[in-house]
Amino acid sequence: MGISIGLVGLGSFGSAFAPLFKNHPLVDRIGLCDREPTLVAKFANDPFYANKLHPRDCHDSLDAICRADFDALVIITQPWLHAPQCIQAMESGKHVYSAVPVISIPDDEEILGWCDKLVAAVKRTGRHYMLGETTYYHPQSMFCRRKAREGAFGDFVYAEGEYMHDVDSGCNLRRVQQSRTSSSSGKEWLRVQDAYRARGVKGGPMHYPTHSVSGPVCVMNAHAVRVNAHGYANRTGDPFFADSAFSNEAALFKMSNGAAVRILESREMPGVAGQDSETFRVFGTRGSFSENRWFTIRRPDPKAVDMDHLPTPECATLKPAEMFDPLPLDVQNGFKQALHRGKDPRELLSIDFTPQGHGGSHPYLVHEFVDAVAHSRTPAINVWEAVRYMAMGVAAHQSALRDGDTVNVPDWGDAPCKE
Ligand SMILES: NC(=O)c1ccc[n+]([C@@H]2O[C@H](COP(=O)([O-])OP(=O)(O)OC[C@H]3O[C@@H](n4cnc5c(N)ncnc54)[C@H](O)[C@@H]3O)[C@@H](O)[C@H]2O)c1
Repeated sequence: MGISIGLVGLGSFGSAFAPLFKNHPLVDRIGLCDREPTLVAKFANDPFYANKLHPRDCHDSLDAICRADFDALVIITQPWLHAPQCIQAMESGKHVYSAVPVISIPDDEEILGWCDKLVAAVKRTGRHYMLGETTYYHPQSMFCRRKAREGAFGDFVYAEGEYMHDVDSGCNLRRVQQSRTSSSSGKEWLRVQDAYRARGVKGGPMHYPTHSVSGPVCVMNAHAVRVNAHGYANRTGDPFFADSAFSNEAALFKMSNGAAVRILESREMPGVAGQDSETFRVFGTRGSFSENRWFTIRRPDPKAVDMDHLPTPECATLKPAEMFDPLPLDVQNGFKQALHRGKDPRELLSIDFTPQGHGGSHPYLVHEFVDAVAHSRTPAINVWEAVRYMAMGVAAHQSALRDGDTVNVPDWGDAPCKE
């Protein structure tokens, strides 16, 4: 028997995940929840959902869906709401998937307090928490984790991660902000924001750090110990940055394995540093990964270096298809049906499954959470991993506010059974 999942938050991002969760073969029943009735109706009236959705499973509040008997909730609400909503879901007996980040609010101490409460809630309730960090399931991350498991990097020396999203490029952040604050929950936030403003508390891009830190952290399987960071504050009086101490922040971390990691979060800086706006590079003593290239070298025995046969580095350029982990065939088929609606299932047999959404990460995130809940195992991006990402951003922001002073990064330890 499969599991039941309630989808909370059916806005722009939640809408992209609804068909995948509905069509995962281990999901028997779904529920829908949004405070905006039109969003619930959009899905409830779509015949695609009818085979797993009963009208009584449509809800207009988190309180209501928490009272219903779902195994798990997927929370894709605005970023300032996640942590308390996830705790409420776990307290009501549900496993929970959260959109990134753990929480994004201007006050550093408050964020760390929520990290504490979230870890405590997972321990107290015994429910699983998973953070839906897209970079974790980029093909580059999957490839590098495989190489790390083989020991092919040697000792980790250095890594870089960046999320470069200029306010006016690509998915325009002014529009995103306008859209996220136009709903009932968005308007409530505007009033909460006034209180932070009155206290003079200002955030920054490091309060949304998951896309830049996840790659180095998950590949090296290490956590940050301390950081020095600097920020650039907007100089034009742009209202988009009115509540941010900085529009760009850069940080250098010392990691628990001795490596150094440079992280960049930029919102007022067009262009990208590498091939993508959301990417990372990892360098070791024997293997390195950068821009889809894998570099290796066969070191000579240090006690018997043969000067006539010195090694040369090798470089392999990889395609995403070579880097993705395989998904089970029945899961691929379920997702194919969601992506190519209306097509005859026999026709789908001849179509290859191509992972889509933020570097192909969406189907992997859905599968990881559903599979973890169905098999009662700790998900890959569990609460201990999630708070590591958040703590790095908070500590970097604190350091930047103190003009680069060294700040220690809190850590809540490893997951009890780390996969
Ligand atoms: N690459 C990524 O990982 C990525 C990309 C985009 C968005 N996101 C994350 O996804 C989240 C959602 O973003 P979005 O653009 O879809 O926002 P959105 O404003 O379009 O949607 C959020 C929805 O949540 C609903 N909601 C809020 N509180 C609720 C409650 N108590 N009960 C029921 N419904 C509630 C709102 O009504 C709204 O419809 C954000 O936290 C964002 O950080 C992540």
